[in-house]
Amino acid sequence: MTNSLPPAERRASADLAAMRVSYGGDADLVESWLDDGWFPLVTSWLDEAVAAQIAEPNAMVLATVDADGHPATRTVLCKEITPAGVVFYTNYGSAKGVALQAHPYASASFPWIAIQRQVTFRGHVSKVDAADTQAYWNTRPRGSRLGAWASEQSSLVSSREALEQRLTEVTARFEGDDDIPVPPDWGGFRIAPVSVEFWQGRNNRLHNRIRVDIDESGTTMLVRLQP
Ligand SMILES: Cc1cc2nc3c(=O)[nH]c(=O)nc-3n(C[C@H](O)[C@H](O)[C@H](O)COP(=O)(O)O)c2cc1C
Repeated sequence: MTNSLPPAERRASADLAAMRVSYGGDADLVESWLDDGWFPLVTSWLDEAVAAQIAEPNAMVLATVDADGHPATRTVLCKEITPAGVVFYTNYGSAKGVALQAHPYASASFPWIAIQRQVTFRGHVSKVDAADTQAYWNTRPRGSRLGAWASEQSSLVSSREALEQRLTEVTARFEGDDDIPVPPDWGGFRIAPVSVEFWQGRNNRLHNRIRVDIDESGTTMLVRLQP
């Protein structure tokens, strides 16, 4: 293996090395913003992300570790934030679902880049109880419910047509049913945080990072990290 750059025709056309954004301009994140704990600050930053019209402000990048210790990331939509943690919904038989049941610990980051902020949760994962899953399921449009029935998420499928055929079949199966049930392998996971890190972009890459560590008794401690 050599360290030489690939020939120009095999490089991305965008000049990645030259891409650089300067951050800052707003007030510095300080410890006192966390006087009332992590929850009010997360909700206020989320409100600012919504106000800034960021695409999918509830999207978070979820990292899991499988039974072999191999990490994987993907984006999911956060459907609830409370002091108990962050909740997302998925297929329990998917790659992430299987990984989380083998190793119930995860990290999830909200990359609010347009407002120069990021919040990262790390913590223990448990399934959302069936009543809460049902309540969220009831809010989903019919098409999303049918899609959840049609997809064995993360399993191989031979073609786009085969996938659409599965949707056709479940659509026929539930025709006339107003109450499509929750699929047996579908539901929510909650990450109960052990830490919540707030990151704010600053000039000269001297970003602000403050992490709230939460011990088993619920006692919190603030630490400031080098950028
Ligand atoms: C913006 C966005 C939102 C998504 N939201 C979800 C979600 O809430 N739940 C979900 O299971 N997959 C969601 N996905 C798809 C996942 O990123 C992923 O492809 C899928 O869950 C399969 O992941 P896995 O094979 O690692 O389990 C979303 C993808 C994007 C780009």
